[in-house]
Amino acid sequence: MKKAFVPASRFTLFSAVIAICLSACTDPGPDASQQQLIASLTEPERKLFEHGQLKAYSCAACHGRNGISSHPNYPSLAGRSANELSAALTAYRGGERKHALMTPQARGLNDADINALAYYFSLQLPAASAATQAD
Ligand code: HEC
Repeated sequence: MKKAFVPASRFTLFSAVIAICLSACTDPGPDASQQQLIASLTEPERKLFEHGQLKAYSCAACHGRNGISSHPNYPSLAGRSANELSAALTAYRGGERKHALMTPQARGLNDADINALAYYFSLQLPAASAATQAD
C-alpha cells in the first residue's frame, strides 16, 4: 500500500507543479478574482449567477465563454451593467431591436433567464486591458 502510494504521490506532486506553472503562465488574475467574487455572493445571488452561467453556454460561441468576444462583430458582454444587458435582450425578444442572429437567441429566453444572464455577464471581468472601468 505504502510502496504504491509513494510513486503516485510523487507523480501527483509533479503534475501539481506543472499545473501551477501552466496556470500562472496563462491567466491567473481573472480566475482568482472571479473565485473571490463568487465566494462573496449571497445564496440567492449565487443561484442567479449559476443559472446565468448555465444559460450562457449557448452564448459562448459568439460572445465568448466569459462574455469577452474575440470578434468585433460580436459585442463583448463582460462587466456591462445588468440593466443594459437585460434591456437589450428584452428588446430583441420583443422585436423592438432586430438582428438575424440575436433575435432567435433572445426568443428562447424567459424573464428569469434574461435576469440571470444579465447578472452573470455583468459580473464577468472585462478584458484585462479594460479592467479599470471608468464608469
Ligand atoms: C450566433 C451568434 C450569437 C449568439 C449565439 C448570441 N449572440 Fe448576442 N449578439 C450577437 C450579435 C451579432 C450581436 C450584435 C447585434 C446587433 O448589432 O444588434 C449580439 C448582441 C447582443 C447583445 C446586445 C449587446 C449590445 O452591445 O447592445 C446582448 C445583450 C447579447 N447579444 C446577449 C446574448 C446572450 C445572453 C446570448 C446567449 C443567450 C447571446 N447573445 C447569443 C450574436 C450572438
